Amino acid sequence: MNAPFAAAALDQIRSELASGPRQLLIDGRFVPAASGETFDVVDPATGQVFASAASGGREDVDRAAQAARRAFDGWAATPPAQRARLLLRLADLIEAHGERIALTESLDNGMPFMMAKFAGVMGAADQLRYNAGWATKITGETVQPSAPGEWHAFTLREPVGVVGAIVPWNFPFVMSVAKIAPALAAGCTVVLKPAEQTPLTAVILGELLLEAGFPAGIVNIVTGYGETAGAAIVDHPGVDKVSFTGSTAVGKAIVRASTGNLKRVTLELGGKSPNIIFADADLSKAIPGAAMGIFGNAGQVCAAGSRLFVHEAVFDEVVEGIKERARTLKVGPGLAPGTEMGPLVSQEQLDRVLSYVESGAGEGATISVGGQRLSDQDAGYFIQPTVLTGTVSGMRVVEEEIFGPVLCAMKFGEGDDLDAVAAQANSTEYGLSSAIWTRDLSTALKLCRRLKAGTVRINGGAGVDPGLPLGGYKQSGWGRENGRAGVEAYTELKAVTVAL
Ligand code: NAI
Ligand code: MG
Repeated sequence: MNAPFAAAALDQIRSELASGPRQLLIDGRFVPAASGETFDVVDPATGQVFASAASGGREDVDRAAQAARRAFDGWAATPPAQRARLLLRLADLIEAHGERIALTESLDNGMPFMMAKFAGVMGAADQLRYNAGWATKITGETVQPSAPGEWHAFTLREPVGVVGAIVPWNFPFVMSVAKIAPALAAGCTVVLKPAEQTPLTAVILGELLLEAGFPAGIVNIVTGYGETAGAAIVDHPGVDKVSFTGSTAVGKAIVRASTGNLKRVTLELGGKSPNIIFADADLSKAIPGAAMGIFGNAGQVCAAGSRLFVHEAVFDEVVEGIKERARTLKVGPGLAPGTEMGPLVSQEQLDRVLSYVESGAGEGATISVGGQRLSDQDAGYFIQPTVLTGTVSGMRVVEEEIFGPVLCAMKFGEGDDLDAVAAQANSTEYGLSSAIWTRDLSTALKLCRRLKAGTVRINGGAGVDPGLPLGGYKQSGWGRENGRAGVEAYTELKAVTVAL
């Protein structure tokens, strides 16, 4: 099978990255960190350093936040149609540079090239076009007050101000864009921090923002570590809102650290999402759906279906089907032709996932397939797709987010009514996503109402759609991204009364 990209393009990206550290984008210019410090970027398919980036700190974040503040009034006053035009132009540029972005994303994160192209590049262009539409459609309401007299009363939606956007490493490019697109549509300015594991495509985004013609300071990009650059954003008095995607632990730390100026906070955190298969389900769809729901992007997906609940009548058939998929799944470097699952993002993530598998076995689970680091790929962070059976609630592998290709398969029986199935599905501290497979619409919709999850996928999901709200119940987060709620999260609501 031939590679779906030009080898020369890859060579050019590699030599460009080797030529020097990526820089910060502050106030419309690329600059090194004030400290002069940089950090290494590792290719997860080889474990080798192939690039570096400026390690932004407090001083850089402060300059970025000040630039965003200076740019704010002008951007908020820019006609919405003009903001929309710039967002649409950025979408076109992203598509035009799609191969470069996807290659860089795959090198940086390890994901298969085709995933980088479709979920990453096309997903980002979709986000921009969807949110460009909102720029001209953010409206208030008129209201009739009950106080005596004659009134004209209405609400205004105004941009919340300077936004700190902190993104993780699992879908670096599309998540960066999914944060800036609604913020910019609403009239906010941004300080964006990509994850330290995957800083590279955010820097390309910065170049394209300049090329599209966004004025200086509208989006500033500070690459760097969470504990330094990230923490500096969260406690900066000039940042009005933080929009964060990442671990529940850091989400809680952000809530605590943002009390200084009571920042608005949106959190899209972890999950331990249930995938529930009834005996009457179309197994030809449910089995591959369940398999790729946990093996896709090597399980490094907030909404991964990591807990499988199958009716006892079809349990063996379903688990055997998923195991077969696990055995045949092509694991390899993201840029190798035909790769279906890439490496985990880092040594740290590999260690974390392997230690969960060990902990599961220690608590009595059976490693039904997989469970090992791939020995012939010693240099990269490759792990086998893994299915654990004999898992029960209370085990760490069932309760905690693993963020790797590790499925816990569990059974329910004839004796379990929908309340019992829902209780099992709802039994973790998370509530991000869920999936139901059945031909009985009544069963599906009854269970849907009983699930404490921000997303319910019945007989298949539509992927991440910019129009569909994304977010969690319980400790999976605060607020929603995408859809109307996603753009309104970047606004303040003002009530105005006029006594006539
Ligand atoms: P993390 O939550 O530490 O990192 C996510 C982002 O937050 C990165 O940009 C990081 O630099 C930043 N960050 C870290 N500490 C910060 C702080 N004190 N203040 C401000 N920003 C900070 O996630 P990590 O350590 O990379 O992964 C650990 C686990 O988190 C994973 O195994 C997975 O379970 C979960 N996770 C969930 C994600 C999701 O999409 N819901 C994405 C990434 C990780
Ligand atoms: Mg961390």
